[in-house]
Amino acid sequence: MTLTRSSAERDIGAVERQAFETLASAASRDALESLRVRYLGKKAKLTALLRAMKDLPAEDRPAIGAFVNQAKERVERALEEKLAAVRAEEEAAALAASRVDVTLPGRRRTIGRLSPLTQVRREVTEIFRSMGFSVEEGPEVETEYYNFDALNFPPDHPSRDAQDTLLVDGGYLLRTHTSPVQIRTMERQKPPVRMICPGWVYRADTLDASHSPMFSQVEGLLVDEGVSLGDLFGILNAFAQRFFGERTKTRYRPSFFPFTEPSAEVDVSCMICAGTGKTEAGTCRVCKGTGWKEILGCGMVDPNVFKAVGYDSERYTGFAFGMGIERLAMFKFGVDEIRHFFEGDQRFIAQF
Ligand code: DAH
Repeated sequence: MTLTRSSAERDIGAVERQAFETLASAASRDALESLRVRYLGKKAKLTALLRAMKDLPAEDRPAIGAFVNQAKERVERALEEKLAAVRAEEEAAALAASRVDVTLPGRRRTIGRLSPLTQVRREVTEIFRSMGFSVEEGPEVETEYYNFDALNFPPDHPSRDAQDTLLVDGGYLLRTHTSPVQIRTMERQKPPVRMICPGWVYRADTLDASHSPMFSQVEGLLVDEGVSLGDLFGILNAFAQRFFGERTKTRYRPSFFPFTEPSAEVDVSCMICAGTGKTEAGTCRVCKGTGWKEILGCGMVDPNVFKAVGYDSERYTGFAFGMGIERLAMFKFGVDEIRHFFEGDQRFIAQF
């Protein structure tokens, strides 16, 4: 069959119509792309028709060539327009899908809190810092020398026993109190000394309502010429009033510690029942009706301790004190279970 001008025009017209029909129903970029390949690409129908022109009589070729090219251009233009429309639709859909409702209420974040122990430690530290005390540190894994010997514990003292003290391989132990930091500070520093040391301590105790094998203390030491028991009373009373409130009373009971002489235990008037021993509910739960609560141990530094660090005990005197942070926190916040401090239960922590 030979190609004639009119059959060529008919073929071209048919292909063009087909292209427009397919175009009308193409709804995605992919569909449009395959349409482009099918009608305008190298192997496309319109291209094939151009190639077939060599079979036409020479005088018809320019007109048919122009006819094919015009058809191609029309299809091309329609395809571009449709592509632009599809693109705009896709963008609008993407925008609609990612729309944010700025009027929605925000999500509430829960904010963490400092453990009551951290709060108490910071408050105690701040009170002594304001009275000129420096803050020192020492190791939690200690030697028997610093934990006991230098603090004038006799060789047969019961607390040296493995039943009370947690031992560590290599002749070390976990410090049972923060008092060894007194020794380490005095070894480093000449008098005058005014230091405190907050830190963890360890004892071979079983966990119960009032005991924990790991707890924390604040140690204090003041050494200078002419320091007297009156200075100890002055500083510790000032501390008690700042920490528990201005109306807090103190009471000093004679006691014993190897590293102080004389030694005392300090009670403060119960802040829950204002020292009366009674609350509306009956006997005060916190002081058990006594009106007093023990908060710390203290005393004048024993001359043997000064000897251990090479201080002249004829020239210098001093006082020391130590208190349990959990105990202070339990009393201040009316908590009756030491275990609560170590369980990390948000419902407990959130109350302070
Ligand atoms: N180290 C004592 C303890 O753990 C507390 C203590 C008492 C410390 C009297 C002192 C002090 O510095 O003078 O029970």
